[in-house]
Amino acid sequence: MKGLLLSGGSGTRLRPLTHSGPKQLIPVANKPVLVYALEDLKRAGITDVAVILGLNGREQVIERIGDGTQYGVNVTYIDQGAPLGIAHAVACAEDFMGEAPFVVYLGDNILRHGITQLVADFDENKSDAVVALQRVSDPQRYGVAELDDGGHLIQLVEKPKVPKSDLALVGVYLFTRSIFDAIQKIEPSWRGELEITDAIQKLIDNGRVVKHHIIQGWWKDTGMPEDILEVNRLLLDDLTPVIYGTIEEGAVVKGRVSIGKSTVLRTGSVVYGPSIIGNNCTIDAGTYIGPYTSIGDDTHIAGAHIENSIVVGESFIACKKTIVESLIGDKTQIRSMDQKLPKGHRLIVGSGSSIGL
Ligand code: G1P
Repeated sequence: MKGLLLSGGSGTRLRPLTHSGPKQLIPVANKPVLVYALEDLKRAGITDVAVILGLNGREQVIERIGDGTQYGVNVTYIDQGAPLGIAHAVACAEDFMGEAPFVVYLGDNILRHGITQLVADFDENKSDAVVALQRVSDPQRYGVAELDDGGHLIQLVEKPKVPKSDLALVGVYLFTRSIFDAIQKIEPSWRGELEITDAIQKLIDNGRVVKHHIIQGWWKDTGMPEDILEVNRLLLDDLTPVIYGTIEEGAVVKGRVSIGKSTVLRTGSVVYGPSIIGNNCTIDAGTYIGPYTSIGDDTHIAGAHIENSIVVGESFIACKKTIVESLIGDKTQIRSMDQKLPKGHRLIVGSGSSIGL
């Protein structure tokens, strides 16, 4: 079995963070979303993986993942070009897949228990495709599956206004070669994309066997900032604390906290878990971090209170303010203006930023 990891898309709902890179590289609990998917593939025994690249941040993905050796997989890159839909991305991998059955993993999805069970249960001689499903409270945001009374899959609809069920399509699919013919036969949807949901419906309409698998444990599509913060909380709930850095005398660390190499928690700083602080950070006196906060590498925080947030990294935050439920992109500076006139908030922010004062 081979793997296909999708890292295309434009990430418009995650601007401004996606101005400087793809959404799949946004870190949650200090690790890019895409890396969780790659590790899940490896854990499921899949080592031959193609990564589909979009136009946004393709070089960053190649730089981060490389040839896959550090994750124990062989990675081949395939350019999708313009974001023409998931089915289009899958079609780009036809030559790579050859005759092999394969798993498609959307690179912005995270599943608590990975895909090992799903992959182990797949028998390509008994079904042409398997879709992963989970019950959600907001099905209109997703592809939605309808089952008949016998529990068989009968219809899949992409983002229906009036969903027939609360079973959402999780962004992991198992396919045989038959999906490539089905993709040939579909038309772009209202959002101008070739939808994988429509291609799978085509398989059903053509009498192919499409099964479903209900996913256990939490699953999240990290399409919006609040999703990213929620995944961060869910992952930190499972954090195994490791301390590499230095905790000076008089610094307070409570609960499950991980501290990276060459990081210093200065006397008078406080960190509440679950929280993670990356490598080479300085946390000065008067700073309070946590709970549910991830601070990326090379960050200096002096005096701020930060909770329920992600600081991507390489940032300098020096102010006596309380920052909550925030997503702070890399190389950001937040400084106190208390001494300077005219008094007020001074903002230099990019397109798509969102600020709550
Ligand atoms: C895509 C699929 C949708 C699925 C979702 C899961 O949506 O089209 O069927 O439920 O991923 O993450 P998109 O993220 O493109 O809106």
